[in-house]
Amino acid sequence: MGARVERVKMNVNGIDREVEVEPWMSLNFVLREKLSLTGTKKGCDTGGCGACTVLLGGEAVYSCMTYAMKADGGRVTTIEGLGSDGNLDLIQVAYAEHYALQCGYCTPGFIMSTKALFDANPDPHSSETSAAVRATRRYSRPRSSMKQKKRKGRA
Ligand code: FES
Repeated sequence: MGARVERVKMNVNGIDREVEVEPWMSLNFVLREKLSLTGTKKGCDTGGCGACTVLLGGEAVYSCMTYAMKADGGRVTTIEGLGSDGNLDLIQVAYAEHYALQCGYCTPGFIMSTKALFDANPDPHSSETSAAVRATRRYSRPRSSMKQKKRKGRA
């Protein structure tokens, strides 16, 4: 007897997608392995690092800890979905200008977490920016880039 397979429909980065998923599949697995959106990383795969962060319905979620079936009918935004007309999102620009990349592996997760924060609150308190990057809070560069985004966002 084969594994149960269901069709899941979701809008990913503005494009309607339909994929066959099994109940065990995480959103991270489906994005990377079925939709080839490898900008979303898999780090710890246990909800501890945030490298896999994407937006689901505008909220930051750890895609490794989110079943793909939960995204059925939902709107998913990955790092590939930021920016427009070939231009980077302001958050991506701020990260680049502050060289807030470290090794680069978890940067998409940082950026998506920052995106959710600023979408919800364009003028966050520093404690909120710290919480948004809590998984790697000992580093200062992502926080510096958030401060820059905050300043540019007001202009
Ligand atoms: S891969 Fe680390 S929280 Fe998802």
